[in-house]
Amino acid sequence: MKRTLILFLLATVSFFSFDQAFDLKASMERGKSIYETQCVACHMAEGEGISGVFPPLAQSDYLADKSRLVKVVLKGVRGEMTVNGVEYNSEMTGFPLSDQETADVLNYICNTWGNKAEVIKPADIQPALKTASKNYQPY
Ligand code: HEC
Repeated sequence: MKRTLILFLLATVSFFSFDQAFDLKASMERGKSIYETQCVACHMAEGEGISGVFPPLAQSDYLADKSRLVKVVLKGVRGEMTVNGVEYNSEMTGFPLSDQETADVLNYICNTWGNKAEVIKPADIQPALKTASKNYQPY
């Protein structure tokens, strides 16, 4: 009886972790097509950017600050920034994306090209927009 219960619990746990992994994958798939239509022209296919002109997203210093990423994508960004030791002083307009699309494109860039981050959900977007980030200037 005990063993059956344990097996049942294990099956339930693996079912739920599978389900979660599947959700991130689906979000990243949708995010990939947003990236390929709206971001790739500047940040390039491998997220490598163009040194000194368009900063990289692969292994970027800025991936750690989730709420900053949300603001950069929706409100744009301008001014000086140093990404992985290279200085940029340019500007990027914000994109008119829904909360779902913003979460999807961020899940894609934050978990591709060797990047790894926590899942970002559509419900995280609006609260993140209201926070302040150090040295952040909207477009
Ligand atoms: C027209 C070119 C262009 C497009 C298209 C573009 N960006 Fe940017 N992006 C820039 C520039 C230029 C900067 C640096 C701005 C500065 O120097 O203040 C930047 C900065 C960033 C940063 C912060 C720095 C870093 O490297 O981590 C992120 C994150 C980012 N962009 C994500 C995106 C996403 C996501 C998209 C698509 C929805 C996108 N960008 C589309 C030009 C672009």
